[in-house]
Amino acid sequence: MTNAVIDVIKKRRTQYALGKDLPLSPDAVTHLIKEAVRHAPSSFNSQSSRAVILFGAESEKFWSMVKEALRKIVPEDAFAASEARVNGFAAGAGTILFFEDQDVVKELQEKFALYADNFPIWSEQSSGMAQFAVWTALAESGIGASLQHYNPLVDAEVAQTWDVPPSWKLRAQMPFGSNLQPFGDKAFIDDAVRFKVFG
Ligand SMILES: Cc1cc2nc3c(=O)[nH]c(=O)nc-3n(C[C@H](O)[C@H](O)[C@H](O)COP(=O)(O)O)c2cc1C
Repeated sequence: MTNAVIDVIKKRRTQYALGKDLPLSPDAVTHLIKEAVRHAPSSFNSQSSRAVILFGAESEKFWSMVKEALRKIVPEDAFAASEARVNGFAAGAGTILFFEDQDVVKELQEKFALYADNFPIWSEQSSGMAQFAVWTALAESGIGASLQHYNPLVDAEVAQTWDVPPSWKLRAQMPFGSNLQPFGDKAFIDDAVRFKVFG
């Protein structure tokens, strides 16, 4: 049995070897990212996910920020490895910053008090759905990406640099670009450990 969605899901992999040559124009990539985030599900259709899309020098600026923030906290003998990793992200064509709007979460908590404790959790889950949708859509277009988490290290500087509203909470960063290396094999745990099927 073949299924087009499963085929694309399988195509999405972590790519660290990123280059600058994209198969699509920045406008087309922007459109793709917007569509993926727009059509990702969210609790109560709250649409709490936000994204800042950085291309070229703006993306490089983000990774310099990360590098300088890491320089302050990573032990000197470990910094070279961190720096090499970050340089790899900067070598891509762009970076998507994923946020969740905490004003939306608060509004929902006030409106539906019964579920108040769940809304922050559902917001995180919605963010994951948006990230997965974007990552998979990029993969379908032949664009490589990975998922990074340098928040909250750079949150304040990001907000200041790209005019991010105070209610937007940075959740993840996705550097993307051309695939410079093939993907390695991926190991999977046993179905018996993972699934139970009844009926
Ligand atoms: C919630 C979540 C958090 C992740 N965080 C990171 C991260 O901080 N850095 C990183 O390099 N990869 C991160 N990853 C990527 C995983 O390591 C990767 O998806 C996993 O090893 C499977 O490999 P694949 O993406 O090639 O299928 C994250 C993935 C998920 C779903």
